[in-house]
Amino acid sequence: MLLTEIDHVAIAVNDLEAAIDYYRRAFGASVDHREVVESDGVEEALLKVAESYVQLLTPTRPDSPVAKAIEKRGEGLHHVGYRVADCGVALAAMVAAGAKAIDAAPRPGSRGTTVAFVHPKGSFGTLIELVQEN
Ligand code: CO
Repeated sequence: MLLTEIDHVAIAVNDLEAAIDYYRRAFGASVDHREVVESDGVEEALLKVAESYVQLLTPTRPDSPVAKAIEKRGEGLHHVGYRVADCGVALAAMVAAGAKAIDAAPRPGSRGTTVAFVHPKGSFGTLIELVQEN
């Protein structure tokens, strides 16, 4: 079994502050990590849940993939991050099983991780991110 944890559930939102405030009021959640990932055109807030995270995600520019997703489908569940020991090994295994890679090779993600995205087409309609903690 290559998956070691659900790393995060990513939820695309228009207003990051409002979403953080909602999770704080509803669950008493606090932000464990916050980061702008300029290459992906997103700002994220990670709320820790046991060994996993809820990742609130907002676009930082109109041409960001997350902006396009919100435009198309509205706010809501955007992708699931699966934690793996070796991102390259897991990506190759997924491609061998018929997945369509978005990232041809693992690349840097937020909070110092190594990540690779796999297309929803070929993965039963879910955008998957493989996450390796370094
Ligand atoms: Co993610």
